[in-house]
Amino acid sequence: MASAYPLRTADETTASFARLAQSRADATNEIVGESPLLQSLLQQVGLVAPTDSTVLILGETGTGKELIARAIHRFSNRSSRPFIRVNCAAIPPSLIASELFGHERGAFTGALQRRQGRFEAANGGTIFLDEIGELPMETQITLLRVIQEREFERVGSSQPIPVDVRIIAATNRDLEAAVADRTFRSDMFYRLNVFPIHVPALRERLEDIPLLVEHLIERFAKRVGKAFRTIKMNTIETLQAYDWPGNIRELQNVIERSVILAEGDVFSIDEGWVKRGLRRPRPTAPLISSIAEREREMIEAALAESEGRISGPSGAAAKLGIPRQTLDSKIASLQINKLRFKSRRNGMLAMPQVNTGDVDVD
Ligand SMILES: Nc1ncnc2c1ncn2[C@@H]1O[C@H](COP(=O)(O)OP(=O)(O)OP(=O)(O)O)[C@@H](O)[C@H]1O
Ligand SMILES: [Mg+2]
Repeated sequence: MASAYPLRTADETTASFARLAQSRADATNEIVGESPLLQSLLQQVGLVAPTDSTVLILGETGTGKELIARAIHRFSNRSSRPFIRVNCAAIPPSLIASELFGHERGAFTGALQRRQGRFEAANGGTIFLDEIGELPMETQITLLRVIQEREFERVGSSQPIPVDVRIIAATNRDLEAAVADRTFRSDMFYRLNVFPIHVPALRERLEDIPLLVEHLIERFAKRVGKAFRTIKMNTIETLQAYDWPGNIRELQNVIERSVILAEGDVFSIDEGWVKRGLRRPRPTAPLISSIAEREREMIEAALAESEGRISGPSGAAAKLGIPRQTLDSKIASLQINKLRFKSRRNGMLAMPQVNTGDVDVD
C-alpha cells in the first residue's frame, strides 16, 4: 500500500540509521526532531552548555529532560569529566547526606569504610539533580549549602571540602506552584532557576512525529533483526492525533511494541493503543482566550521590535515591562516561535559553533 512515509529498503536501513544518528548525534546526542520548538530548545542548549551556569530543565514526563541534561554536559568544557546523575526521588531522606556527600569510616553504624559521595564523584564535571521537585522539604536544606557555596562535609567529618561542579536540575513538577504551596524552598528555587529550559510536550511539536517514528522504527527493527519497507497509510496521522501524555517515552513504547508484533514489511500500529487519548476540542473560554490573544499580539509586537531579543535594555522583556523569566514562560505557554523574529545572524542548530559571547540572544 502506498504511503506518504516510505521507509528505506532493508539494505539501506542500517546505513541510513547510521547517517541519521551521525548527523544528529554529532550535535545533539541523538535528539531527533526538526520542529521550531525543538530547534529553539537546542539553540538554548548550545548557548548555555559552554557556560558554567546552573540549568533548570522543566517539562512533562518523558519529554527528554535527561537527554537535554546530557547534551549540555557533552557540549560543555567539562565533557571529559564525569556526569553524575542523582535521582532525588529515589534516595531515602535518612541516607541523603551520606549519598550526596559521602561519609567517614565509623560515621554511623555500618559505615565500615570511608565512602565518596556523589558531589565528590562529580568534581570537575556535572551533577544532574534529577526529579528535584520530589525532594522532601526537610532534605532540601541539605542541598542548599552545597549549591550555594560549592562546599560540603562528609558525614562524620567537620572538614569542609570544596567542589567544582556544574549543576543541572530537572523536574516535571511546577516548582513555582510548589514554592507557593510551601513544598519547595524558595531559596533553593532561586538558586536553581538561573537558566530555565522548558522541554515542550510532544503534542506541542507534532511535526517531530514523522522523524521520531522513522528513527524509532529503525532502532527497534535493527534490534530484533526486522526490516520494514513502508509505513501503513495514515499511521503518522493517527499518531499525530493522539495526546501523548507519556510523551516520547510513550511513543517509543508504542513503536517498540508494534515492531515486535509486526509481520511482513509494512509497519503498522494497533490504533486501539492511541485512540483513548485522542484530542477533543477543548471547551472555549472566550474571556481567557481573548486575553491570551491580546498577550500574544503584544509579545509578538515586542519581539518583532527587538528582533527576537528577550533580555537587555532593548529586549522584549524590557519593552513589555516584565521580568525576562515571565516573558520566557509566556512565550512557552503561548507557543510563540521566537526564531521567527530573529535576524539572520543568529544561526540555528549550530550548537558547538554557537557564539557564547552572545548570551543575550536566547
Ligand atoms: N528528541 C528526542 N529524540 C529522540 N529520543 C528522544 C527525544 N527526546 C526524548 N527521547 C527519548 O525518550 C526517552 C525519555 O527521555 P528522558 O528520559 O530524557 O525523559 P525525561 O523528560 O527525563 O522523563 P521523566 O520526566 O519521566 O524522567 C529516552 O529514551 C530518550 O532517549
Ligand atoms: Mg528523567
